[in-house]
Amino acid sequence: MQKPLLELTQLGMRYPVATGEFVALKDVNLTVNKGEFISLIGHSGCGKSTVLDLIAGLQMPTDGGVIVSNKEVAGPGPDRAVVFQHHALLPWLTVYQNVELALKQVAIHQKQKVSKTLLNQQVMHYLELVQMTHASDKKPDEISGGMKQRVGIARALAMQPNVLLMDEPFGALDALTRAHLQDALMAIQTELNNTIIMITHDVDEAVLLSDRIVMMSNGPAATIGQVLAVDLPRPRNRVSLSNNEGYQYLRQQVLQFLYEKHCKVKPMTQPRTQEVA
Ligand SMILES: Nc1ncnc2c1ncn2[C@@H]1O[C@H](COP(=O)(O)OP(=O)(O)OP(=O)(O)O)[C@@H](O)[C@H]1O
Ligand SMILES: [Mg+2]
Repeated sequence: MQKPLLELTQLGMRYPVATGEFVALKDVNLTVNKGEFISLIGHSGCGKSTVLDLIAGLQMPTDGGVIVSNKEVAGPGPDRAVVFQHHALLPWLTVYQNVELALKQVAIHQKQKVSKTLLNQQVMHYLELVQMTHASDKKPDEISGGMKQRVGIARALAMQPNVLLMDEPFGALDALTRAHLQDALMAIQTELNNTIIMITHDVDEAVLLSDRIVMMSNGPAATIGQVLAVDLPRPRNRVSLSNNEGYQYLRQQVLQFLYEKHCKVKPMTQPRTQEVA
């Protein structure tokens, strides 16, 4: 049997607060195989970003541990790249230089010398994947939000991480740009076979992109409530899926988990029109 790439074992996080301690996460257990696309979904404040931070090594757990590629996570590293909701590009560097910097950092970390020509080829390759070569000389404040997010993804991919961690990467974008980037991400994952863990509040996004949807219960002491396998064939097309019975069933399962089993707010007298967590 394939050894999992990522293992979360009895993972817990307790924060010191004025009244003692706040148990944010408790007994989170999950294994992820190479090439899997996992979505983490749950109500605001349930601990999704904390899980991602613990995998990234940006915070250390108070209980349990995280293993990536047979090594316990002891801090941040280029094997785990993070894409945040709001891009984190360096504003004084161009689009090209932002991606180049990531490649240089990886080369330094791996103690490799990379020629200028090879570096140029690699930068252009990653910019091509996100269709951003045309804006390579622009600074971040000269491009749109969706374009910045694409460069953020190119930069993260350039690090060739074992795991790509995404915290609501498309949350701040309009619906059309989001759909475009979701399609781009699916195409890139098909090409590169990346292992991705993505936080989302968007039920359709979770079903469209994922191999498994990990649904978290509400805190305190939040944990994994249910894991839903998304067995829809790939490549997936959002238009044809919208009429697909399997797709509708999976959507309903997520909505039931969020709004019936783990509802945070009392049911409203008016029907909900927005189906986001
Ligand atoms: N440094 C901290 N000290 C105390 N409590 C914290 C700290 N960081 C996070 N928390 C608490 O831990 C819980 C989980 O926070 P987290 O940011 O992981 O939630 P989330 O699921 O990502 O929420 P959202 O969807 O709103 O981004 C929250 O109740 C939060 O208040
Ligand atoms: Mg969060």
